[in-house]
Amino acid sequence: MVSVVDTWAKQSRFVRELRDRALVVRRDVAMVARDLRGTRPPPFHERVASRREAHAQHTLAARSVRVVECVHETDDAVSLVLEDLRGAPFVFRPGQFFTVCVRVRGELVRRAYSASSSALEPSRLRLTVKRVPDGLVSNLLNELHEEAARGSRLELLGPSGDFIPSPSTTPRTLLLVAGGSGITPHLSILHTLLVREPQTRFVLIDGNRKEQDILFRAELDALSRQYPNRIHISYVLESPTDSWGGGVGVLDQATFLKELDRSEIRQGESVEALLCGPDAMMQAVRAALLSRGWDARRIREERFFASHAPRSNERDQSTPHRMTVIHQGISRDIAVLPNQTLLEAGVASGVAMPYSCALGGCGACKVKCVEGNVVMSEPNCLLDKERNDGYVLACVSFAASSVRVELP
Ligand SMILES: Cc1cc2nc3c(=O)[nH]c(=O)nc-3n(C[C@H](O)[C@H](O)[C@H](O)COP(=O)(O)OP(=O)(O)OC[C@H]3O[C@@H](n4cnc5c(N)ncnc54)[C@H](O)[C@@H]3O)c2cc1C
Ligand code: FES
Repeated sequence: MVSVVDTWAKQSRFVRELRDRALVVRRDVAMVARDLRGTRPPPFHERVASRREAHAQHTLAARSVRVVECVHETDDAVSLVLEDLRGAPFVFRPGQFFTVCVRVRGELVRRAYSASSSALEPSRLRLTVKRVPDGLVSNLLNELHEEAARGSRLELLGPSGDFIPSPSTTPRTLLLVAGGSGITPHLSILHTLLVREPQTRFVLIDGNRKEQDILFRAELDALSRQYPNRIHISYVLESPTDSWGGGVGVLDQATFLKELDRSEIRQGESVEALLCGPDAMMQAVRAALLSRGWDARRIREERFFASHAPRSNERDQSTPHRMTVIHQGISRDIAVLPNQTLLEAGVASGVAMPYSCALGGCGACKVKCVEGNVVMSEPNCLLDKERNDGYVLACVSFAASSVRVELP
């Protein structure tokens, strides 16, 4: 009897597999056909993954979301408005980012995008992506056709990050300095705190190359009209036209200080500065503020860095390694497969490893490596002191030998 049931089970599994494969083939043929017609769906459209891919894709607990709007804001920036497939709210603090997981040519890649929408409207989340020359994901997303993208699904991790203004109930000014796509967290901060903190005043200095590059100009100007006494906005352009009446120049120390002086921040006022943009701009603005006697603790920065995996010669791509995870005095041995991060290996084996962004940007997955060698994707958010103390970020670390790690 048992063997009959076994045989029947095997046969029906075989039939199911054949049916699944037929579905995949039908789908692939349809995709090629759409390719030929030039209507290929975006890369994050649902696709039937192989067993191994499906496992890798769902190892980390990403939530599934649907694109409800896709808006080309400028020639090189697109906003995706997202809804959770189960209707769950997006609970985040203004200034935080989410991790978008997309599959490009069969590879799962993750990128961070700051929320650009208000945290007070959690039923929808807006992420805005500016093209980076030769960038893999930013260019794919910017090539999306508005109609075709609507309804497509993608996977999201987060929210993550601590680029969050400290809460305040007393009068103060927030100085927001943005360069290019660095406006996204600031826009979320403005939308949220203009409503939530009636005592806070905002000064935004927004640097761009040319007028057409200014992201969310209409939205920012509308906020300015709605709250005339609470926002001061300076747009600064590197290459303005003759008719431009705003600030001019690269946002270096001199240009920034000129704009700061126009913003009427009063001496002795309680001010916190949040900077987000290219490194050179943030360094110049920080130096300028320090030269004016600002306390370094009141200056915060968000880097839109992209972490890159170690080169293949630096990481052992052929051999699985053993990882011993120690937590609250209990140790457990698990296997780390080639190309798997310590985090993916741990979570796949059911170890409750903490994480949030899964791309080296938040520090939530920090573990202490007490034995063995790992190689990490760089740059990442680990501090020098943490490195020296033996900490690694499990989400971007690959085992280069057997390793022993301690969870916090
Ligand atoms: C916390 C955080 C929040 C972010 N929020 C946003 C956001 O709201 N909007 C947004 O558009 N981007 C944001 N980014 C950047 C984003 O995550 C990607 O790095 C960016 O979209 C490039 O990805 P890509 O796949 O196109 O480029 P990749 O294929 O990863 O990189 C291609 C090349 O571009 C360079 N590069 C990568 N990123 C940048 C960059 N930001 N500036 C200049 N050169 C770069 C790389 O060094 C590489 O040479 C954020 C990054 C972080 C860490
Ligand atoms: S989970 Fe954010 S750094 Fe690893």
